[in-house]
Amino acid sequence: MSIDFTNKTAIISGAAGGIGLAMARELGQLGMRIVMADIDEPALQASAQTLSKEGISVLACQLDVTNFAQWQAVVTEAKEAFGGIHMLINNAGVGGIPASIDQSDNAIWQWVVDVNLMGVMYGAQVVTPAIKETGEGGWIINVASMAGMNGVPYSSAYAATKAAVVSMTESWAVELKKHNIHVSALCPAFVKTRIHESLRTKQEKYGTDRPKGDPEKLKKGFGQAAALVEAGIAPELLAKRVIEALNSKQLYIFTHPNFRDAIATRGKFIDKAFEDAAHSPLVKHLINDEIQSL
Ligand SMILES: NC(=O)c1ccc[n+]([C@@H]2O[C@H](COP(=O)([O-])OP(=O)(O)OC[C@H]3O[C@@H](n4cnc5c(N)ncnc54)[C@H](O)[C@@H]3O)[C@@H](O)[C@H]2O)c1
Repeated sequence: MSIDFTNKTAIISGAAGGIGLAMARELGQLGMRIVMADIDEPALQASAQTLSKEGISVLACQLDVTNFAQWQAVVTEAKEAFGGIHMLINNAGVGGIPASIDQSDNAIWQWVVDVNLMGVMYGAQVVTPAIKETGEGGWIINVASMAGMNGVPYSSAYAATKAAVVSMTESWAVELKKHNIHVSALCPAFVKTRIHESLRTKQEKYGTDRPKGDPEKLKKGFGQAAALVEAGIAPELLAKRVIEALNSKQLYIFTHPNFRDAIATRGKFIDKAFEDAAHSPLVKHLINDEIQSL
Protein backbone atom coordinates (compact mmCIF):
# COMPACT_ATOMS: atom_id res chain seq x y z
CA MET A 1 0.00 0.00 0.00
CA SER A 2 1.28 3.49 -0.82
CA ILE A 3 2.21 5.89 1.97
CA ASP A 4 -0.61 8.25 2.97
CA PHE A 5 0.94 11.75 3.10
CA THR A 6 -2.39 13.54 3.62
CA ASN A 7 -2.35 16.37 6.17
CA LYS A 8 1.27 15.73 7.08
CA THR A 9 3.78 18.58 7.00
CA ALA A 10 7.08 18.80 5.10
CA ILE A 11 9.82 21.42 5.45
CA ILE A 12 11.79 21.77 2.21
CA SER A 13 14.94 23.87 2.02
CA GLY A 14 15.81 25.42 -1.34
CA ALA A 15 12.16 25.14 -2.36
CA ALA A 16 12.01 28.29 -4.51
CA GLY A 17 13.08 26.46 -7.67
CA GLY A 18 14.52 23.32 -9.26
CA ILE A 19 14.31 20.05 -7.36
CA GLY A 20 12.95 21.65 -4.18
CA LEU A 21 10.01 23.24 -5.99
CA ALA A 22 9.23 20.01 -7.86
CA MET A 23 9.22 18.08 -4.56
CA ALA A 24 7.01 20.76 -2.98
CA ARG A 25 4.47 20.46 -5.79
CA GLU A 26 4.51 16.65 -5.87
CA LEU A 27 4.09 16.28 -2.10
CA GLY A 28 1.50 19.09 -2.05
CA GLN A 29 -0.52 17.25 -4.68
CA LEU A 30 -0.37 14.20 -2.42
CA GLY A 31 -2.03 16.25 0.32
CA MET A 32 0.95 17.43 2.37
CA ARG A 33 1.27 20.90 3.85
CA ILE A 34 4.47 22.43 2.59
CA VAL A 35 6.88 24.75 4.36
CA MET A 36 8.96 26.27 1.56
CA ALA A 37 12.25 27.71 2.80
CA ASP A 38 14.80 29.49 0.63
CA ILE A 39 17.43 32.22 0.67
CA ASP A 40 16.04 33.80 -2.54
CA GLU A 41 13.09 35.81 -1.19
CA PRO A 42 11.58 37.03 -4.53
CA ALA A 43 11.78 33.56 -6.13
CA LEU A 44 10.41 32.02 -2.92
CA GLN A 45 7.39 34.31 -2.81
CA ALA A 46 6.65 33.77 -6.52
CA SER A 47 6.86 29.96 -6.23
CA ALA A 48 4.81 29.89 -3.02
CA GLN A 49 2.09 31.96 -4.70
CA THR A 50 2.04 29.62 -7.69
CA LEU A 51 1.63 26.52 -5.50
CA SER A 52 -0.97 28.24 -3.36
CA LYS A 53 -3.02 29.08 -6.46
CA GLU A 54 -2.79 25.40 -7.42
CA GLY A 55 -4.56 24.61 -4.12
CA ILE A 56 -1.53 23.52 -2.09
CA SER A 57 -1.26 24.54 1.57
CA VAL A 58 1.97 26.52 1.71
CA LEU A 59 4.02 28.53 4.20
CA ALA A 60 6.98 30.51 2.78
CA CYS A 61 9.92 31.20 5.10
CA GLN A 62 13.12 32.98 4.18
CA LEU A 63 16.04 30.79 5.24
CA ASP A 64 19.78 30.81 4.73
CA VAL A 65 20.61 27.19 5.62
CA THR A 66 24.02 28.27 6.96
CA ASN A 67 22.24 30.20 9.73
CA PHE A 68 21.26 27.96 12.67
CA ALA A 69 18.98 30.58 14.27
CA GLN A 70 17.03 30.93 11.03
CA TRP A 71 16.47 27.16 10.96
CA GLN A 72 15.04 27.40 14.49
CA ALA A 73 12.72 30.23 13.41
CA VAL A 74 11.46 28.13 10.46
CA VAL A 75 10.53 25.27 12.79
CA THR A 76 8.72 27.63 15.17
CA GLU A 77 6.74 29.21 12.29
CA ALA A 78 5.97 25.80 10.78
CA LYS A 79 4.59 24.46 14.06
CA GLU A 80 2.47 27.59 14.57
CA ALA A 81 1.05 27.30 11.07
CA PHE A 82 0.57 23.56 10.69
CA GLY A 83 1.14 21.80 14.05
CA GLY A 84 3.36 18.72 13.89
CA ILE A 85 6.19 18.23 11.42
CA HIS A 86 6.67 14.91 9.63
CA MET A 87 9.24 15.41 6.92
CA LEU A 88 12.42 17.34 6.23
CA ILE A 89 13.88 17.62 2.75
CA ASN A 90 17.39 18.97 3.11
CA ASN A 91 17.57 20.11 -0.48
CA ALA A 92 19.29 23.53 -0.64
CA GLY A 93 22.67 23.15 -2.26
CA VAL A 94 25.19 24.99 -4.42
CA GLY A 95 27.56 23.86 -7.15
CA GLY A 96 30.57 26.03 -6.28
CA ILE A 97 32.98 26.86 -9.09
CA PRO A 98 34.74 23.92 -10.74
CA ALA A 99 38.55 24.22 -10.46
CA SER A 100 41.59 22.01 -9.97
CA ILE A 101 42.72 21.78 -6.33
CA ASP A 102 45.71 24.10 -6.79
CA GLN A 103 43.45 26.73 -8.32
CA SER A 104 40.53 26.45 -5.92
CA ASP A 105 39.35 29.52 -4.07
CA ASN A 106 39.12 28.89 -0.31
CA ALA A 107 36.14 31.21 0.11
CA ILE A 108 34.25 29.20 -2.50
CA TRP A 109 35.17 25.93 -0.75
CA GLN A 110 33.90 27.37 2.54
CA TRP A 111 30.63 28.45 0.90
CA VAL A 112 30.06 24.97 -0.57
CA VAL A 113 30.88 23.28 2.75
CA ASP A 114 28.66 25.63 4.75
CA VAL A 115 25.61 25.30 2.48
CA ASN A 116 25.86 21.68 1.34
CA LEU A 117 27.19 20.10 4.54
CA MET A 118 26.57 22.35 7.57
CA GLY A 119 23.20 23.43 6.14
CA VAL A 120 22.10 19.79 6.02
CA MET A 121 23.45 19.14 9.51
CA TYR A 122 21.69 22.21 11.00
CA GLY A 123 18.45 21.23 9.29
CA ALA A 124 18.50 17.71 10.68
CA GLN A 125 19.58 18.87 14.13
CA VAL A 126 16.74 21.39 14.44
CA VAL A 127 13.93 19.49 12.67
CA THR A 128 14.52 15.99 14.09
CA PRO A 129 13.22 16.88 17.59
CA ALA A 130 10.10 18.38 16.00
CA ILE A 131 9.47 15.17 14.00
CA LYS A 132 10.06 13.08 17.14
CA GLU A 133 7.51 15.24 19.05
CA THR A 134 4.66 14.12 16.81
CA GLY A 135 5.31 10.50 17.84
CA GLU A 136 4.11 9.44 14.39
CA GLY A 137 7.51 8.87 12.77
CA GLY A 138 8.46 10.55 9.53
CA TRP A 139 11.11 11.11 6.91
CA ILE A 140 14.36 12.97 6.35
CA ILE A 141 15.48 13.14 2.74
CA ASN A 142 18.98 14.52 2.30
CA VAL A 143 19.66 15.63 -1.23
CA ALA A 144 23.14 14.35 -1.99
CA SER A 145 24.15 13.56 -5.58
CA MET A 146 25.71 10.89 -7.75
CA ALA A 147 28.79 13.03 -7.03
CA GLY A 148 28.54 11.72 -3.45
CA MET A 149 29.13 8.18 -4.68
CA ASN A 150 32.46 8.88 -6.39
CA GLY A 151 35.07 11.64 -6.61
CA VAL A 152 34.58 14.25 -9.33
CA PRO A 153 37.71 15.81 -10.85
CA TYR A 154 37.62 19.63 -10.77
CA SER A 155 34.60 19.59 -8.44
CA SER A 156 36.16 18.21 -5.28
CA ALA A 157 34.38 20.64 -2.92
CA TYR A 158 31.00 19.65 -4.32
CA ALA A 159 31.81 15.92 -4.36
CA ALA A 160 33.26 16.04 -0.83
CA THR A 161 30.15 17.67 0.62
CA LYS A 162 27.86 15.25 -1.20
CA ALA A 163 29.89 12.24 0.03
CA ALA A 164 29.51 13.73 3.52
CA VAL A 165 25.75 13.94 3.04
CA VAL A 166 25.64 10.26 2.05
CA SER A 167 27.68 9.40 5.14
CA MET A 168 25.51 11.54 7.44
CA THR A 169 22.43 9.83 5.99
CA GLU A 170 23.84 6.37 6.69
CA SER A 171 24.61 7.39 10.28
CA TRP A 172 21.25 9.05 10.97
CA ALA A 173 19.27 6.23 9.32
CA VAL A 174 20.52 3.91 12.07
CA GLU A 175 20.18 6.48 14.87
CA LEU A 176 16.58 7.39 13.99
CA LYS A 177 15.20 3.97 13.03
CA LYS A 178 13.88 3.41 16.55
CA HIS A 179 11.85 6.62 16.22
CA ASN A 180 10.35 5.37 12.98
CA ILE A 181 12.05 8.19 11.07
CA HIS A 182 13.18 6.94 7.69
CA VAL A 183 16.32 8.71 6.46
CA SER A 184 17.39 8.55 2.83
CA ALA A 185 19.98 10.08 0.52
CA LEU A 186 18.73 11.25 -2.85
CA CYS A 187 21.56 10.79 -5.34
CA PRO A 188 20.63 12.11 -8.77
CA ALA A 189 22.98 12.61 -11.69
CA PHE A 190 22.07 15.55 -13.94
CA VAL A 191 18.73 17.31 -13.45
CA LYS A 192 17.61 20.34 -15.47
CA THR A 193 17.71 23.09 -12.83
CA ARG A 194 19.74 26.26 -12.14
CA ILE A 195 22.44 24.49 -10.08
CA HIS A 196 25.07 25.70 -12.59
CA GLU A 197 23.99 29.27 -11.77
CA SER A 198 24.41 28.87 -8.00
CA LEU A 199 26.53 32.01 -7.77
CA ARG A 200 23.28 33.97 -7.93
CA THR A 201 22.63 33.27 -4.24
CA LYS A 202 26.20 33.36 -2.87
CA GLN A 203 26.18 35.31 0.39
CA GLU A 204 28.51 38.31 0.75
CA LYS A 205 30.37 36.66 3.62
CA TYR A 206 31.95 34.35 1.01
CA GLY A 207 33.21 37.25 -1.15
CA THR A 208 31.49 40.03 -3.03
CA ASP A 209 32.27 38.86 -6.57
CA ARG A 210 28.71 37.82 -7.23
CA PRO A 211 27.81 38.29 -10.89
CA LYS A 212 24.19 39.34 -10.99
CA GLY A 213 21.68 38.70 -13.75
CA ASP A 214 23.77 37.66 -16.74
CA PRO A 215 23.24 33.87 -17.06
CA GLU A 216 26.48 33.46 -19.02
CA LYS A 217 28.49 35.07 -16.19
CA LEU A 218 26.65 32.96 -13.62
CA LYS A 219 27.67 29.82 -15.47
CA LYS A 220 31.30 31.01 -15.68
CA GLY A 221 33.64 28.13 -15.03
CA PHE A 222 30.89 25.53 -15.13
CA GLY A 223 31.84 24.62 -18.72
CA GLN A 224 30.83 21.11 -19.73
CA ALA A 225 28.87 20.56 -16.52
CA ALA A 226 26.45 23.36 -17.51
CA ALA A 227 25.58 21.56 -20.76
CA LEU A 228 25.05 18.29 -18.87
CA VAL A 229 22.73 19.98 -16.37
CA GLU A 230 20.75 21.57 -19.19
CA ALA A 231 20.37 18.14 -20.82
CA GLY A 232 19.38 16.56 -17.49
CA ILE A 233 16.11 14.90 -16.49
CA ALA A 234 13.11 17.02 -15.52
CA PRO A 235 12.80 17.78 -11.79
CA GLU A 236 9.14 16.69 -11.99
CA LEU A 237 10.21 13.20 -13.07
CA LEU A 238 12.73 13.09 -10.23
CA ALA A 239 10.00 14.07 -7.74
CA LYS A 240 7.80 11.17 -8.83
CA ARG A 241 10.76 8.80 -8.58
CA VAL A 242 11.42 9.98 -4.99
CA ILE A 243 7.86 9.08 -3.95
CA GLU A 244 8.25 5.67 -5.61
CA ALA A 245 11.50 5.04 -3.71
CA LEU A 246 10.03 6.25 -0.39
CA ASN A 247 7.26 3.72 -0.82
CA SER A 248 9.87 0.98 -1.15
CA LYS A 249 11.85 2.43 1.81
CA GLN A 250 15.11 2.96 -0.06
CA LEU A 251 18.14 4.25 1.86
CA TYR A 252 19.77 5.51 -1.35
CA ILE A 253 17.37 6.99 -3.88
CA PHE A 254 18.78 6.63 -7.37
CA THR A 255 17.28 8.33 -10.40
CA HIS A 256 19.86 7.37 -13.03
CA PRO A 257 20.31 3.58 -13.37
CA ASN A 258 22.83 4.20 -16.19
CA PHE A 259 25.44 5.16 -13.53
CA ARG A 260 25.36 1.68 -11.97
CA ASP A 261 28.53 0.34 -13.61
CA ALA A 262 30.53 3.49 -12.86
CA ILE A 263 29.73 3.22 -9.15
CA ALA A 264 30.28 -0.55 -9.15
CA THR A 265 33.79 0.09 -10.47
CA ARG A 266 34.56 2.07 -7.31
CA GLY A 267 33.36 -0.94 -5.29
CA LYS A 268 35.72 -3.17 -7.26
CA PHE A 269 38.71 -0.90 -6.53
CA ILE A 270 37.85 -0.96 -2.82
CA ASP A 271 37.56 -4.75 -2.86
CA LYS A 272 40.93 -5.01 -4.66
CA ALA A 273 42.52 -2.83 -1.99
CA PHE A 274 41.17 -5.16 0.73
CA GLU A 275 42.59 -8.11 -1.19
CA ASP A 276 45.96 -6.35 -1.17
CA ALA A 277 45.75 -5.81 2.61
CA ALA A 278 44.69 -9.44 3.12
CA HIS A 279 48.02 -10.51 1.57
CA SER A 280 50.16 -7.93 3.35
CA PRO A 281 52.73 -9.52 5.71
CA LEU A 282 52.21 -6.50 7.98
CA VAL A 283 48.44 -6.74 8.55
CA LYS A 284 47.16 -10.08 7.21
CA HIS A 285 47.00 -11.49 10.76
CA LEU A 286 43.95 -9.23 11.42
CA ILE A 287 41.83 -10.97 8.81
CA ASN A 288 39.70 -13.02 11.21
CA ASP A 289 39.48 -10.46 14.04
CA GLU A 290 35.95 -9.73 15.11
CA ILE A 291 34.72 -6.27 14.09
CA GLN A 292 33.72 -4.10 17.05
CA SER A 293 30.84 -1.76 16.31
CA LEU A 294 28.69 0.65 18.33
N1 LIG B 1 20.63 19.70 -10.79
C1 LIG B 1 21.42 18.65 -10.73
O1 LIG B 1 21.94 18.16 -11.73
C2 LIG B 1 21.68 18.02 -9.37
C3 LIG B 1 22.25 16.74 -9.34
C4 LIG B 1 22.49 16.16 -8.12
C5 LIG B 1 22.16 16.81 -6.96
N2 LIG B 1 21.61 18.06 -7.02
C6 LIG B 1 21.29 18.72 -5.76
O2 LIG B 1 19.93 19.09 -5.74
C7 LIG B 1 19.75 20.13 -4.78
C8 LIG B 1 18.86 21.20 -5.37
O3 LIG B 1 19.55 21.86 -6.40
P1 LIG B 1 18.89 22.20 -7.82
O4 LIG B 1 19.54 21.33 -8.81
O5 LIG B 1 17.42 22.23 -7.72
O6 LIG B 1 19.50 23.67 -8.05
P2 LIG B 1 18.82 25.11 -8.09
O7 LIG B 1 19.96 26.06 -8.09
O8 LIG B 1 17.84 25.18 -9.20
O9 LIG B 1 18.02 25.21 -6.71
C9 LIG B 1 18.68 25.36 -5.47
C10 LIG B 1 17.80 26.15 -4.52
O10 LIG B 1 18.53 26.30 -3.29
C11 LIG B 1 18.46 27.67 -2.87
N3 LIG B 1 19.62 28.00 -2.03
C12 LIG B 1 20.91 28.21 -2.40
N4 LIG B 1 21.66 28.54 -1.34
C13 LIG B 1 20.83 28.55 -0.26
C14 LIG B 1 21.01 28.81 1.12
N5 LIG B 1 22.21 29.18 1.63
N6 LIG B 1 19.96 28.70 1.95
C15 LIG B 1 18.71 28.36 1.45
N7 LIG B 1 18.48 28.13 0.15
C16 LIG B 1 19.53 28.20 -0.70
C17 LIG B 1 18.41 28.47 -4.16
O11 LIG B 1 17.88 29.76 -3.98
C18 LIG B 1 17.53 27.57 -5.03
O12 LIG B 1 16.15 27.88 -4.89
C19 LIG B 1 21.15 20.62 -4.41
O13 LIG B 1 21.50 20.09 -3.14
C20 LIG B 1 22.02 20.03 -5.50
O14 LIG B 1 23.35 19.85 -5.10
C21 LIG B 1 21.37 18.67 -8.20
